[in-house]
Amino acid sequence: MPPRLKIVIVGHVDHGKSTLIGRLFHDTNSLPDGKVAAIQAACAAEGMDFEYAFLLDALLEEQEQNITIDTTQIQFRTARRGYVIIDAPGHKEFLKNMVTGAANADAALLLIDAREGVQEQSKRHGYLLSLLGIRQVAVIVNKMDLVDYSAAVFQRIVDEYRAFLKPIGVTPLHFIPASARHGKNIAAASAELAWFDGPSILQALDNFTTPGTRAELPLRFVLQDLYRFDERRLLAGRIETGRLNVGDELVFWPDRKRSRVKSFETWGRQQPAVKTSASAGESVAITLTEQIFVERGQVASHPGAGLAEGREFHASLFWLDPAPIYLNQPYTLKLGTQAVEARIVKIERVIDSATLTVTGVNRDRVERDEVAEVIIRPRKPVAFDNADHITVTGRFIFQQGARIGGGGIIHSAAYAPLLAGEVKSADLEWSGGEVTHELRAQHHGHRGAVLWLTGLSGSGKSTLAVALEKSLLQRGRAAYILDGDNIRYGLCADLDFSLADRAENIRRVGEVAKLMADAGLIVISALISPLQAERDHIRQQCHNEGLPFAEIYINAPLAVCEQRDPKNLYRKARAGHLKDFTGLDSPYDPPPAPELELPTDREPKETSLAKLLDLALTISASDTPPLTGPFTPVI
Ligand code: ADX
Repeated sequence: MPPRLKIVIVGHVDHGKSTLIGRLFHDTNSLPDGKVAAIQAACAAEGMDFEYAFLLDALLEEQEQNITIDTTQIQFRTARRGYVIIDAPGHKEFLKNMVTGAANADAALLLIDAREGVQEQSKRHGYLLSLLGIRQVAVIVNKMDLVDYSAAVFQRIVDEYRAFLKPIGVTPLHFIPASARHGKNIAAASAELAWFDGPSILQALDNFTTPGTRAELPLRFVLQDLYRFDERRLLAGRIETGRLNVGDELVFWPDRKRSRVKSFETWGRQQPAVKTSASAGESVAITLTEQIFVERGQVASHPGAGLAEGREFHASLFWLDPAPIYLNQPYTLKLGTQAVEARIVKIERVIDSATLTVTGVNRDRVERDEVAEVIIRPRKPVAFDNADHITVTGRFIFQQGARIGGGGIIHSAAYAPLLAGEVKSADLEWSGGEVTHELRAQHHGHRGAVLWLTGLSGSGKSTLAVALEKSLLQRGRAAYILDGDNIRYGLCADLDFSLADRAENIRRVGEVAKLMADAGLIVISALISPLQAERDHIRQQCHNEGLPFAEIYINAPLAVCEQRDPKNLYRKARAGHLKDFTGLDSPYDPPPAPELELPTDREPKETSLAKLLDLALTISASDTPPLTGPFTPVI
């Protein structure tokens, strides 16, 4: 039997959702014996007409008493397979489910009331489904009994709704006329709808394909909790996609720490049957061979098939809260089990989800029921997937306090990570020369090397770089400074201070530094280079070329830099005339393991210079092997 299909039934409260669910249960004989009779009797006693909707209430009530069952899920089965209905009584619950992963619906039934026709609400629901990437959809035109089972009414609704769904990429597999209340076209064709030659609702459900199971996708193991038993540390989480085996090497995002799966455990004991693998949908606890620091919110993948990690991403956001969401205000972003403060830094385009008209560009807020293309910046790096690739790890919600205000899907990182080997043309060939690093070192009397100075604006990078360059030349070493401000006059004159442009700035300077070091120079780069991932990348690039690289953290606290304010920029930024200023409204990652850290607020310039010179002389000495240092490989 094929695996169970998760379906979501979306529709306006009055369009007969509960009745339909009651009917589906009844017509598939999925109700406990005597249930219908009991409810019929109860209705009679109270002088009420029996309603199929009561069945659903009764089922849910029963489940609520049984705390082990997820109350949002109810199940039935046909001859073909089992179904789980992810009940979506309201937006809020739907959103919550969506994020906890319970609502990874494989298919959806969209309900429309035949009398009311396509309502604004129906359109918004359609849009929501398209945003969630739910591709298998059947539209049920319910309450056909109230329009005398009219083929013309049905056709009008079909034409109108199809036209609306087309541009948003939703093509329903079926449009089905039905009457849930009277059981018409639920399990089988009905005489009243003889003019309709399509399937009944249950046949349509059985026609849906079970999507390629999530186990076939790359591994995403989302960490929920960490426990300590004796000396063992247990990592508990849910495998959202893929498979996990004992012995697998794992990379934990966004930190990219690596370790190997040692065992599967249950509460501190090894599993009796000695489990060696698990796959999508399972919640498991594992131990690792090497103890690394990991925490709730992180996501593990296999090497080479990782997530994106980033400080900014492009997303489609739909907003449901009556109060709008504002640009540049802090909200809580929840992505899997990650929860982090985040802001919308750009609202590129706003669309009304019912009319599909663009209602604004570059706005400062998104109102209820609008969908917007936005750039989101979490306060610290988060791990995510493009929703097109893996939906579970590409969806998020936004909360204000405890209230869920909206959610969305991620399209891509807002700036291209600096990927090694990512070259546009396939028709290139590297042409190597015959002059080796050793020959060059013999010629110059020292090796080429890269000294990468990083730190806040005003920390002292340029000052130290200038002094170092001079000292090196005095000692017969050929050195050259690549200074942020200077480079931005020419090579990088087209770039601003968005994270995307900074990444490009650093990529270009990194490339130039590499070339110059390859040519035999000691390159002193003096760029803020605020993100660790980017500095790591340059380190790796140099390492790959066999070039010595050292990261030097010019560490002066923000308050000191701001007080120095040599270019009056902090003042400008505080006054609101400069945006995206590092340390104020743009991030800076202090290097966790630089080769050298110079506290320029606490030691005289001469001391810092002496240490720097010493390092520069050491790594460029022709008789020392290249100091490339440890690096975090880019995955
Ligand atoms: S980086 O982030 O891309 O590495 P870079 O070192 O090239 O920055 O340029 C930083 C210099 O640009 C600063 O020293 C400062 O003089 C100037 N600057 C102008 N605007 C900004 C800003 N918004 N944030 C940081 N520096 C800025």
